[in-house]
Amino acid sequence: MFTRRRRWRVPMGEEPTALDRRVMALESRGALVPRRNLIRTPEEIEGIRKSGVINTAILDLVGEKIHAGMSTLEIDEIVHSYTIEHGAIPATLGYEGYPKSVCTSINEVVCHGIPSATEILKEGDIINVDCTTILNGFYADASRMYVIGGTTPQKAKLVQVAKECLEIGAEAAKPFGFVGDIGNAIEKHAHKNGFSVVRDLCGHGVGVKFHDEPEVLHYGKKGTGMLLVPGMVFTIEPMINMGTWKVFIDSADGWTVITEDEKPSAQWEHSFLMTETGLEILTH
Ligand code: MF3
Ligand code: CO
Ligand code: CO
Repeated sequence: MFTRRRRWRVPMGEEPTALDRRVMALESRGALVPRRNLIRTPEEIEGIRKSGVINTAILDLVGEKIHAGMSTLEIDEIVHSYTIEHGAIPATLGYEGYPKSVCTSINEVVCHGIPSATEILKEGDIINVDCTTILNGFYADASRMYVIGGTTPQKAKLVQVAKECLEIGAEAAKPFGFVGDIGNAIEKHAHKNGFSVVRDLCGHGVGVKFHDEPEVLHYGKKGTGMLLVPGMVFTIEPMINMGTWKVFIDSADGWTVITEDEKPSAQWEHSFLMTETGLEILTH
């Protein structure tokens, strides 16, 4: 018999609130609860919200400018200059050695594609643009798919189902539910449509750091993973594949994640705040 150090700890001298008591009771019964410092203050939430406004404007601007014949480096330049001009910082630039201000992932590239002058968008491509913004120290992380001209019905369906997976996953997240509820809903919707869910990468806590707890798996069982508590901020970012869920990292750059069967992949991402009633999107 042994006891485990509590994750949810009320600072010395502070009276436990009703919320503290509720979370601590669940922890006593064995739930994986967040550390109390994962609960964002109203001031922090305001800061993340403002960062989200810039992040959204960037992805809107990309949507206006993206076209066949342009390079992914041009997308990087659009993201970089808008970010800097608005007093923010592109979070990926220099992050663990990542060299650019945005990730651009075309067709069979799942995520973390590096913008390049020699990579030219063509009619029928589907591309994920994933942008993380830091404003006054607060992080907002979101990504969207853009379809270049007309594409095949199967690729269009993949893009649509991936979007629905994000929406359905977000709907499944309820206060005092569990992170596993999200992944379970996403996995069901993907499978129902004949697609698979990438398992090697997940959503994450965000807001005062780029990647924080919890791990938000896009597959799994209801009632597993971390307890969802109002005030938590995290991303959901399902990567949905047309073929196998298996992926590999391109050894040429150490970043680009590609489907093992080189069939297409699609991803959408938002940063969310858990409220008393459910998730609120901070990136739209
Ligand atoms: N924005 C990605 C995410 O959703 C992370 C990109 S990290 C990078 O978590 F280094 F590849 F840019
Ligand atoms: Co993210
Ligand atoms: Co992202």
